[in-house]
Amino acid sequence: MRDYEPYYTEDGSIGLYSYGDKDVFHSKFGALTEAWEKFVIPSKPDEILKRQNKINVLDICYGIGYNTKALMTFVIEKNKNKIYKKNILQKLFDKLLNIDTIDNDNNSTKEKCLSRYNDTIYDDKKISKQNKKDINHDKNNFPIVNIDCLDINEELVKLSPLFKTIKTPAEYYCYVMPSVFDCFKWYYKLQDIFVNIVSVFSPKNKKRITELLELKFKNMHIDKEYKVNPIVNYILINRISEIYGRDYVNKDLKKILRERWTKRFFSKSLIKYAKFNQFWGYNKLSQNILSTFLHNIYYLYLSKRYKNVDFKAAESLFNVSFYLKDARKSILQINKQYDCIFLDAFTYTKAPQLWSVEFIAELYKRLKDDGVLLTYSNSAQIRNTLLENKFYVGKIYNEKTKKFIGTIASKDKTKIDFPLNNYEVGLCNTKAGIPYHDPNLAFSSKDIMDLREYEFRHSGLMSSSKYMKYRTMRSQDDEI
Ligand SMILES: C[S@@+](CC[C@H](N)C(=O)[O-])C[C@H]1O[C@@H](n2cnc3c(N)ncnc32)[C@H](O)[C@@H]1O
Repeated sequence: MRDYEPYYTEDGSIGLYSYGDKDVFHSKFGALTEAWEKFVIPSKPDEILKRQNKINVLDICYGIGYNTKALMTFVIEKNKNKIYKKNILQKLFDKLLNIDTIDNDNNSTKEKCLSRYNDTIYDDKKISKQNKKDINHDKNNFPIVNIDCLDINEELVKLSPLFKTIKTPAEYYCYVMPSVFDCFKWYYKLQDIFVNIVSVFSPKNKKRITELLELKFKNMHIDKEYKVNPIVNYILINRISEIYGRDYVNKDLKKILRERWTKRFFSKSLIKYAKFNQFWGYNKLSQNILSTFLHNIYYLYLSKRYKNVDFKAAESLFNVSFYLKDARKSILQINKQYDCIFLDAFTYTKAPQLWSVEFIAELYKRLKDDGVLLTYSNSAQIRNTLLENKFYVGKIYNEKTKKFIGTIASKDKTKIDFPLNNYEVGLCNTKAGIPYHDPNLAFSSKDIMDLREYEFRHSGLMSSSKYMKYRTMRSQDDEI
């Protein structure tokens, strides 16, 4: 892990600092919080799934996968009754209340699991594997979630499901003090005291990282609101194992996982599972003669931790694919239409390749008419790049902080809850809004920046500072 420095963000998730790009991957407030608030929640996946029971998502710059993991967690939570097995009492209760129960017993689980691979289950040989999966889903009214993940860094993708998310002091409090007592005032007073004491012992970031980022970390002091469902990591390990086979946890990866400083950021049990998976060859299990025997071991291994989860049912919700090269090349290979595009590239001043008019034009072509593109960037330049591509552009509003925290774009005006105001559109038409160009999607970052610099110097547009002064003067005049 020489090129990256992991650190704990304040919600207990892990952030990375890239020495190469001299940029952070995640905000200090919380990598996970950011994924939920800037990408998953504003993309309104529940509305999409209600409409069509299927969602296609493009996660540009997957990194260590928080955006994908948050989305998968969201879908799992929404399909809880189909995924979590019910005990006898719950089933009885549901029957009494006439609640539609889904058959979750072990046999059907095993059948579902094997049907993923077993072609003979279906009579019609003409049906493709994907269609069969769709039929299975239709039967159970399961949604289909297709996520295409783009990133240039294979190492990070391999490591992504192995990172741990530690518990915040507030979460530990819930363990020691059951929430049934939360009707008493002392519950919260005691919580404050507990959190303050435990925070002293919570993991601290190395001094170097705080200096690098020039940020003061509070280290896990804040409450964690968002989570990654642990099953998600197992699903991703299976998927990455399918891709890499015996090359998944290879010599290089083992070295990173063993490094003294980085070791504490990874989950031992997830590493163990990845190795188990690699040893037995997960993707081949159901195809060989020993399949039943190996599947039994497989379930035994998983069930220790997640006894109440129909893991295969959860896994069958997702088709996760990885495109591991420059996103400019990957995008040209993709011939799909997406409901949501998450654009989480490094900041445009450091990595201009994924912010050019031409790259965004490729995204425009691949976004459905009622789809949405989301990014954390609030800059006039990026907003103008989207406007030049004929998108309707708006802001992502955070109800909690009452702040705008990113940008949303769509071909459908009705998808924009908070459109740019006149002032913001005006700012896009100043020099600050001059976009990057990357003809043929093959320029180096230096060339892209030089090209913009040249345009900037020769442009007749008003500078942003002049524009701001002019607007303040006008608003003062209006007041008079
Ligand atoms: C800000 S981080 C993304 C964080 C990520 N969404 C997460 O949840 O961890 C930016 C990512 O962009 C990737 N990247 C940089 N240049 C790229 C390119 N040209 N094509 C694809 N990925 C790129 C880096 O490897 C890095 O993982």
